[in-house]
Amino acid sequence: MTNTIYFDQPIDDTSRRGHLYEGQIFVFSPRPSTLALCKLADDMLCEAFSPVEPVEAQYHMPVEDFVAILAPLKPKFIHHPESKRLIQNILRDLGCDMDRTYLDVPRLRAVTSDAYLTSGVGYAHHLHRDTWYSAPLCQLNWWIPIYRFGSESSMAFHPRYWNQPVKNGSSGFSYQEWNNNGRKNAAQHIKADTRSQPKAEEELTLAPQVRVVCEPGGIILFSAAQMHSTVPNTSGATRFSIDFRTFNFDDLVHSTGAPNVDSAPQDTSLRDFMRGSDLTRLPEEVLNSFGDGQPAAEPFVLQS
Ligand SMILES: [Fe+2]
Repeated sequence: MTNTIYFDQPIDDTSRRGHLYEGQIFVFSPRPSTLALCKLADDMLCEAFSPVEPVEAQYHMPVEDFVAILAPLKPKFIHHPESKRLIQNILRDLGCDMDRTYLDVPRLRAVTSDAYLTSGVGYAHHLHRDTWYSAPLCQLNWWIPIYRFGSESSMAFHPRYWNQPVKNGSSGFSYQEWNNNGRKNAAQHIKADTRSQPKAEEELTLAPQVRVVCEPGGIILFSAAQMHSTVPNTSGATRFSIDFRTFNFDDLVHSTGAPNVDSAPQDTSLRDFMRGSDLTRLPEEVLNSFGDGQPAAEPFVLQS
């Protein structure tokens, strides 16, 4: 396949989603709408880690103290009264039809340097597709760095797996159960992460990989079916980022989206999403027809 990274492309949202469902990636320069969301996160991080800079805080305290500061900050950011409004502004700004676009709350991520914290609230994601974690195949991921970062503290895409199935544990994954147990207990996992996750169950090849580096407030937009991972951070600074998810209602009901090559989770994350225009949830009848699974993957065949 051809991998294209579209930079600041002024195309309409429908065409853009079509490219994203084919495995292409979109990158946008910082803009006032994204910088406003970054400022909210920056203000909260600076206040919480004061008097040290958030990106350097890991060098000024034991990891347990770092977790004690970061753990309450994550839900505080998610539930901040401004955060959803700022995401609505970003989506409007990027040409999404707010009556058809559903959004999820923004999440704050921290990836510390030199393996200071790699579990729980600082979990460094192994190679995965979000569709293994019950994301719908039409889900798009919006990733925004809050501070400057480099290749050695970025995330990586692994394009060879876009249409290559991987043996994985998604069939044993329940989003509902993860929400009830795994996510809530994240702060307890400081030295090791024992939460059950739908990992690859075969050896994966890291190369070739594509890393995208953009300015704070830039956007990296990609399909939830992309195989991606957190690059082990060796930059000497903690990387803080924001991400949120969206899907288009018409794509959901018409089963338009990325191809399902190997995802088979037990349920979906659709109940998390709110309509862009008024933040209402999906109608119950839609949830009932789509909420109990997603189009079946082709039977998995081990590659020889
Ligand atoms: Fe992910």
